[in-house]
Amino acid sequence: MAYLSFLLVLCLTCHLAHGVGLHGFHFHGLEEPRPLRKSDRENITEAWIQQPVDHFNPRDNRTWSMRYLENSRYFKENGPILIMIGGEWAISRGFLETGLMYELASTHNAIMYYTEHRYYGKSKPTKDTSSQSLQYLSVDQALADLARFIETKKSTEGFENSTVVVFGGSYSGNVATWLRLKYPHLVQGALASSAPIFAKADFYEYYEVVTESLRRYSQKCVDKVKAAFEAVEKLLTAKDGPEKLKQYFNLCDVPDVNSSNDREHFMNILVEQFGGTVQYNKVENGRTMIAACCEIMTNEQLGSPLQRLVHFVSNGNKCLQNNYEKFVKLYRNETWDAQPDIMRQWFYQTCTEYGYYQTTNSNKTSFGSSLSLRYFTDICTDLYGEYYNNEFLNVRIKRTNVMYGGLRPDLRNVIFTNGNVDPWHALSVLQDLNTLSPAIFINGSSHCRDLYSDSDTDVEDLIQARAKVRKIIGGWISS
Ligand SMILES: *[C@@H]1O[C@H](CO)[C@@H](O)[C@H](O)[C@H]1NC(C)=O
Ligand SMILES: *[C@@H]1O[C@H](CO)[C@@H](O)[C@H](O)[C@H]1NC(C)=O
Ligand SMILES: *[C@@H]1O[C@H](CO)[C@@H](O)[C@H](O)[C@H]1NC(C)=O
Ligand SMILES: *[C@@H]1O[C@H](CO)[C@@H](O)[C@H](O)[C@H]1NC(C)=O
Ligand SMILES: *[C@@H]1O[C@H](CO)[C@@H](O)[C@H](O)[C@H]1NC(C)=O
Ligand SMILES: *[C@@H]1O[C@H](CO)[C@@H](O)[C@H](O)[C@H]1NC(C)=O
Ligand SMILES: *[C@@H]1O[C@H](CO)[C@@H](O)[C@H](O)[C@H]1NC(C)=O
Repeated sequence: MAYLSFLLVLCLTCHLAHGVGLHGFHFHGLEEPRPLRKSDRENITEAWIQQPVDHFNPRDNRTWSMRYLENSRYFKENGPILIMIGGEWAISRGFLETGLMYELASTHNAIMYYTEHRYYGKSKPTKDTSSQSLQYLSVDQALADLARFIETKKSTEGFENSTVVVFGGSYSGNVATWLRLKYPHLVQGALASSAPIFAKADFYEYYEVVTESLRRYSQKCVDKVKAAFEAVEKLLTAKDGPEKLKQYFNLCDVPDVNSSNDREHFMNILVEQFGGTVQYNKVENGRTMIAACCEIMTNEQLGSPLQRLVHFVSNGNKCLQNNYEKFVKLYRNETWDAQPDIMRQWFYQTCTEYGYYQTTNSNKTSFGSSLSLRYFTDICTDLYGEYYNNEFLNVRIKRTNVMYGGLRPDLRNVIFTNGNVDPWHALSVLQDLNTLSPAIFINGSSHCRDLYSDSDTDVEDLIQARAKVRKIIGGWISS
């Protein structure tokens, strides 16, 4: 689930989901469970499978190696195959040694895999990330990779009659859903956790849910956030205001009043902090991230609402990278090694398949009104070229929804889980598609929390949701 908040994200690199430091483009993806202590570690092996660069062009015979992880500790002949599908992040061992899928594998003699999505982690189909190379980065290709992976495994002795169930969270929840849709003979069921299967350019609902989730803590919190953002927007247009903002927020550069992208880039950095807080909303030091955030925003001892906001987003001594031109320069670089994170690849997917742009084009949010769709689509053209403009985006989003069924895919054996705190639920399935594809809407839960194991700090509804999921999937895979 990422900070231009896109889904996802991530976070193999940032074990603190609330990726402080990744200001600017901050990923909201799937956070891996904490790895076990060395002494308790499972026997997990890393392996590679050859894949075509382009599954759909018979004249192109180039191949590359896709990475995956395997844990066969509990497997018995013709037992189920459970696959955690990687999304826009590098895979790591976490989900093969703890979590919901692991528990199911251990009680049903299943083999577990964790597959890496092309263009992320060590799975690099092309020599660089130029727009030309990124043409092979699409969910169509990623699904074909998985189909080939499953075909290959199932032709191995002892797996011929194995039932295959796939698991995914956030964007990889889309992949899990669509794998079942496109290749039903290879996949018998899927869990789609917090999966935004509806593509949409202007995803203003995101910050509406963020606002609602803060309101559940207190109306006062929402009011103070609103006051703080009004103060920031006022300063952005005031004489000497940008210099003051630089000083207050310890920005690396004075916001450029003449550049709407530069102003919005700065605003986005501030607004995203709230997105990250609500989306993950973990319990830290005995209270939720939302509670910690609202305690700051309503603490009069910290000064004005603006000063509280400064306190909340404070990045220690390091200045905040707020300059749009520098940002573009960094992420335009097409060499793999130059990329600080997965933004270049993930943003490409948003520009060509999903949108998901978290604007403030709604009166029901408390973060001002400065984040426009234009800011995000300008990033597309600035990073990948003029071709990737607003009209292109609309055509592509329409295609995604036609190809994969939007919010009404014709599916059986797919479970959709969402938390009402999680801003991504607005693009997912919240009501049963049919009796075999139920939706579980979890009161008080946030992004992808059901993929982990039960914990003391989980709300009751989440514990019950996991029990329900275990029961349904157990029914699919018990022989
Ligand atoms: C770990 O897995 C590898 C590959 O399957 C196997 O060769 C090895 O014996 C296993 N080690 C243990 C301790 O189970
Ligand atoms: C791929 O196609 C080219 C051109 O037809 C051919 O020369 C080459 O041997 C092929 N490579 C493989 C690995 O099949
Ligand atoms: C798979 O199932 C078929 C049909 O039930 C059976 O004939 C075959 O022997 C099974 N294969 C293995 C390897 O168990
Ligand atoms: C913004 O534009 C105005 C009018 O063109 C100009 O006077 C001013 O110097 C510009 N400010 C900056 C920071 O570039
Ligand atoms: C891209 O990054 C690489 C490695 O950091 C650097 O050598 C190269 O000069 C950069 N290219 C551009 C166009 O900035
Ligand atoms: C939002 O507020 C503006 C200004 O008050 C108003 O013009 C607009 O109609 C409102 N939009 C919605 C969707 O309520
Ligand atoms: C969700 O949980 C909250 C807090 O526990 C509770 O007040 C509310 O009634 C619940 N809502 C539903 C729809 O169950």
